[in-house]
Amino acid sequence: MIRSFLPPALDHRGLASALRLMFRDVEDVYGFRIDARLEPVDGELDAISALTLYRIVQEPVNNAVRHSGASCAVVTLGTANGRVSATIHDKGRGFAWAEAQTMDGDGHIGLTGMRERAALLGGTVAVRGARGKGTTIHASVPSKNPHWDGEQGSER
Ligand SMILES: Nc1ncnc2c1ncn2[C@@H]1O[C@H](COP(=O)(O)OP(=O)(O)OP(=O)(O)O)[C@@H](O)[C@H]1O
Ligand SMILES: [Mg+2]
Repeated sequence: MIRSFLPPALDHRGLASALRLMFRDVEDVYGFRIDARLEPVDGELDAISALTLYRIVQEPVNNAVRHSGASCAVVTLGTANGRVSATIHDKGRGFAWAEAQTMDGDGHIGLTGMRERAALLGGTVAVRGARGKGTTIHASVPSKNPHWDGEQGSER
């Protein structure tokens, strides 16, 4: 589904613009509206962190479309204390994260993969929600990845 869209030209457009394109596609294809509250963060991000955050945001957005039963979600992007954070919130049916983790072996790898992506960069992902109470995913990664010393990173 959403994963099949081509990766965006993050290098040319920056993370906030690339996310806006993703959200426009989601709205066009699924009629699912995203209220995007995106600060410009590109000066803070190296290329790997930007791509990782793009992929991280994609999973909860995909999940909100597929699982929440809601018709819209709010996505925020911002920077503070040397970290860039994204929050994806929907007011849909919600789910028990503890139960969802036990579904891992059954092909439900999206949220676990998202946490692994974040962890590789020293980031964190919090999943908040309960049945009937909507879902909030909060992801945060260090803006400059200590393992990435590529020139692309320092130019951004
Ligand atoms: N926004 C949401 N609203 C309601 N339920 C959700 C939401 N996000 C996730 N879930 C529940 O958590 C489960 C696990 O999500 P996860 O993304 O890990 O796997 P998946 O979406 O089922 O499969 P995939 O591997 O394709 O991502 C989902 O199957 C769904 O039951
Ligand atoms: Mg998923």
